[in-house]
Amino acid sequence: MGREIEHFQVALLLSCCLATAATGIVSSSDAAAIADLTRSLARPPATWTAGGGDACSFKGVTCSPSGRVTAIDLAGQGLAGTLPSSLSSLTALESLQLQGNALSGAVPPLRAPSLTRLSLEGNAFTSLPGDFLRATPALRSLSMDGLPLPPRPFPDAIFSCSALRTFSASNASITGRFPAAAVVANLTSIRTLRLSHNNLTGVISASLGRMASLADIALSYNHLQGPVPAFGPTVAAEVVAGNGFCLDEPGPCDAQVSALLQVAEGFGYPLNLSMSWTGNDACSGWLGVICDASEVTILGLTNYNLSGTISLAIANLTGLRKLDLAGNRLTGEIPDALAALPNLSLVDVRNNRLTGKLPKFRASVDVSAEGNSPSLGSHHGSGQGSLDDGSSPSSDSAAVPHRRRNCSWHYCSWACFLDVELACKIYCLSS
Ligand SMILES: *[C@@H]1O[C@H](CO)[C@@H](O)[C@H](O)[C@H]1NC(C)=O
Ligand SMILES: *[C@@H]1O[C@H](CO)[C@@H](O)[C@H](O)[C@H]1NC(C)=O
Ligand SMILES: *[C@@H]1O[C@H](CO)[C@@H](O)[C@H](O)[C@H]1NC(C)=O
Ligand SMILES: *[C@@H]1O[C@H](CO)[C@@H](O)[C@H](O)[C@H]1NC(C)=O
Ligand SMILES: *[C@@H]1O[C@H](CO)[C@@H](O)[C@H](O)[C@H]1NC(C)=O
Ligand SMILES: *[C@@H]1O[C@H](CO)[C@@H](O)[C@H](O)[C@H]1NC(C)=O
Ligand SMILES: *[C@@H]1O[C@H](CO)[C@@H](O)[C@H](O)[C@H]1NC(C)=O
Ligand SMILES: *[C@@H]1O[C@H](CO)[C@@H](O)[C@H](O)[C@H]1NC(C)=O
Repeated sequence: MGREIEHFQVALLLSCCLATAATGIVSSSDAAAIADLTRSLARPPATWTAGGGDACSFKGVTCSPSGRVTAIDLAGQGLAGTLPSSLSSLTALESLQLQGNALSGAVPPLRAPSLTRLSLEGNAFTSLPGDFLRATPALRSLSMDGLPLPPRPFPDAIFSCSALRTFSASNASITGRFPAAAVVANLTSIRTLRLSHNNLTGVISASLGRMASLADIALSYNHLQGPVPAFGPTVAAEVVAGNGFCLDEPGPCDAQVSALLQVAEGFGYPLNLSMSWTGNDACSGWLGVICDASEVTILGLTNYNLSGTISLAIANLTGLRKLDLAGNRLTGEIPDALAALPNLSLVDVRNNRLTGKLPKFRASVDVSAEGNSPSLGSHHGSGQGSLDDGSSPSSDSAAVPHRRRNCSWHYCSWACFLDVELACKIYCLSS
């Protein structure tokens, strides 16, 4: 009997102490961070007392037995204000839910290796840390929809969060290429991927549709191009609306469309090309593309700030007559296959960062390549590619006769557009 009472007392003592540890005596740096947070909220919840009190007893704060803050749940409480930088010191945080408030300013860097859930959506945050997600490798769910962030590329750092199951970032100003292949390669547990209402561009790797983990995907209202990816019948997919796919259903695109989209891929699918290069007819007014009898004959993308390389696929535009990529930041080599295009008459790649040698163009092709690597030569005028010794000056436009310098179809694009090539040539040569 006495023994039983003793056991009971021990149990009582233990449970009492455990309970104290679980709700009280927060670690001092965590206490300071919660106090800072209390102060930086415009109207903190009633139980949150700025002057002190046990942070572990604040509504929405969860602590570990050792007194570390492991979770903060302030979802949907109409909170305004900002987050203090000391939030970074909550290194034991496993869950941070701030969704559905009016919090603004910057989200401070999070240094929480055990963080599994981060919900920021529906706030007014205007910046995320530069190293966002690099220190949160255990993340399983990230939502950041509807934040008024400045345009930013897809956050590649997310690929180090290999346990991620949910990534929801609709309407979050994500701009540029959607790296579908890297999603497939790295996020092997992803179930929910919601990225509608962004400015994502490019062709989606078909492998995305075959991801076994995927159950829910939303990509509508972006600038995605090429074939519509095919998802299995069990996947809730919202992808076609508001994009620039070539067809409304899975299936291959027209050959010229495919070739041009590969060319755009070489440039990293820049937004202004992706906004224009939509649908399944490259001759329907695509930026920089001019056709003759449904055949792409001119590709003119002068001064588009393009970077990347010239895709080999450009040689699949078999009807090409003029190629003008002058004044960009293109690197790599000019594909040799271009020299085989039967109707090519003009190539202008001046003022890029191209390297290698000029392909051996026919004598009838007017080639301008000044302002690139010296190995391309300052070769001007018509004829076969310079078999250069690499000693020619680079951007030495002074070496180019004045009348030739303006002799680009670009200056005569109206004449060319009207396909009055002779008039164009005469204009150029006489100017
Ligand atoms: C996108 O978010 C902004 C606030 O950042 C909001 O005003 C707008 O209505 C949202 N658009 C959509 C389509 O949800
Ligand atoms: C997409 O880009 C355009 C042009 O830069 C911009 O006006 C628009 O707000 C962007 N939309 C989103 C959802 O980021
Ligand atoms: C993600 O996958 C790509 C291959 O698509 C790979 O090159 C990259 O290293 C991976 N990144 C991480 C962080 O695992
Ligand atoms: C396309 O966008 C780039 C920057 O993203 C800009 O430098 C370039 O001028 C734009 N080109 C056109 C034709 O709008
Ligand atoms: C050109 O592109 C680079 C990045 O590719 C960008 O940093 C720069 O601001 C762009 N310039 C213009 C004028 O848009
Ligand atoms: C050119 O087109 C052919 C057939 O349409 C295709 O097999 C080939 O891969 C394309 N070449 C390039 C470099 O895209
Ligand atoms: C080359 O141009 C001629 C005359 O315009 C045209 O008939 C022919 O189809 C073109 N060749 C190719 C490969 O497009
Ligand atoms: C040709 O280019 C030079 C320098 O770029 C310029 O000064 C001249 O006015 C141009 N001539 C014509 C006819 O456009």
